[in-house]
Amino acid sequence: MSLMEAFNYKNGQLYCEDVPVAEIAAKYGTPVWIYSENKFLSEFKAIQDAFKETDPVICYSVKANSNLGVLKSMNTAGSSFDVVSGGELYRVEKAGADTTRVVFAGVGKTDDEIRYALKCKILMFNVESEAELDAISRIAAEMGVVGPVALRLNPDVDGKTHAKTTTGKKGNKFGMDIERHNELAAKVLKDPHLKLIGIHLHIGSPIMTVDPYAQAVAKAAEVINHLRSQGHEINWVNLGGGFGLSYRGSEAPPASEYAKVIVPAIKALGCRLALEPGRSIIGNACVLISEVIYTKREGGKLFYIQDGGMNDLVRPAMYDSFHKVWPVKFDGDLPKDFEAEIPGLQPADVVGPICESSDYFAKGRYLPEMNRGDLMCIFSAGAYGSTMSSTYNSRPRVAEILVNGSDVKVIRKRETYEEMIALEM
Ligand code: LLP
Repeated sequence: MSLMEAFNYKNGQLYCEDVPVAEIAAKYGTPVWIYSENKFLSEFKAIQDAFKETDPVICYSVKANSNLGVLKSMNTAGSSFDVVSGGELYRVEKAGADTTRVVFAGVGKTDDEIRYALKCKILMFNVESEAELDAISRIAAEMGVVGPVALRLNPDVDGKTHAKTTTGKKGNKFGMDIERHNELAAKVLKDPHLKLIGIHLHIGSPIMTVDPYAQAVAKAAEVINHLRSQGHEINWVNLGGGFGLSYRGSEAPPASEYAKVIVPAIKALGCRLALEPGRSIIGNACVLISEVIYTKREGGKLFYIQDGGMNDLVRPAMYDSFHKVWPVKFDGDLPKDFEAEIPGLQPADVVGPICESSDYFAKGRYLPEMNRGDLMCIFSAGAYGSTMSSTYNSRPRVAEILVNGSDVKVIRKRETYEEMIALEM
């Protein structure tokens, strides 16, 4: 299912699957997150199909979007989960998932989080340092259990992604180099409270070409051969997440392209594959709908000031990220290139109400004329959208709505002012 099938224009307005977006906005207010359930399920299925020869465990990366409604739907579809905190593990448990298929990543797991994960009998910890390995061993010993671990290899591969989201290069805080990896593996072998079951890598997010994966999996193979020669029984390769998302058009390779370089290598190793995709599953399955409050001309520019802000979607402010923006009411052909000059239209900055200049969703975009009360759609907002939202400027978190065909479900209510301050004394 393509983005424009999930979110399609007909009869002069935008629909999410079979439901007019404007109807949802009228009923639940703006800003509002609207999800196409069939879109994210189809992305999940495409990954499952592309990698099926490796008997994979697809661990949807909860950090990308942790709404319980999304997790429940993914769980029903057969997904497992990648968590990075006790809170995410709690959500996954509440979604009814089988925690024995969950992987736990992150550089700073606390003792309480490790204890909780061991109690849940998770599939593996992705271990980031010797100190963490020691902590897992100590806690597993206290609990009389064995901690299943995969050491996170920093493959020193350039993922060619944003400086703030690259993780697999030497000098990042993530993982360990091959030498340390092999040293720690030797240590695990002598420890009755740890078992090394695989290797973990994650290069960055998003990785828009398949080549870094080919390089990473080649390094993984080298390390696994060494580990096996040392007596480890390695059954898992966890390649992390990072598959690209088409924010603009169809610039990201489909899952099947990544599979072409990954599957043969995993089969040759005789391993099972774990993946931690987040963005590529949920990114294009959700839009943020806002309403224009004012238009303003100042300093030779046109501003559309709408009610969505950087507290709702922080990605443009934080990573200069690109999101397609377009009116909800529109009759005509959509532009092929949303960044290009469109004859007859005026360039505008789409900004929010927050007291910061970085509070914008788009700059200098050629948009049809919009007026007070018009609805605006910010596309590709599903990944790292609602999960990174905050109540900055004391703006309560907004509603999240899940659409499947003509069925509409509230999966998060709009927060009230009372709820926003409820935990403060
Ligand atoms: N596994 C690990 C170990 C990760 O660090 C990440 C993302 C993933 C999996 C999922 O990657 P994905 O498939 O979603 O690309 N907030 C940023 C992205 C941060 C990514 C952090 N790690 C953004 O909005 O672009």
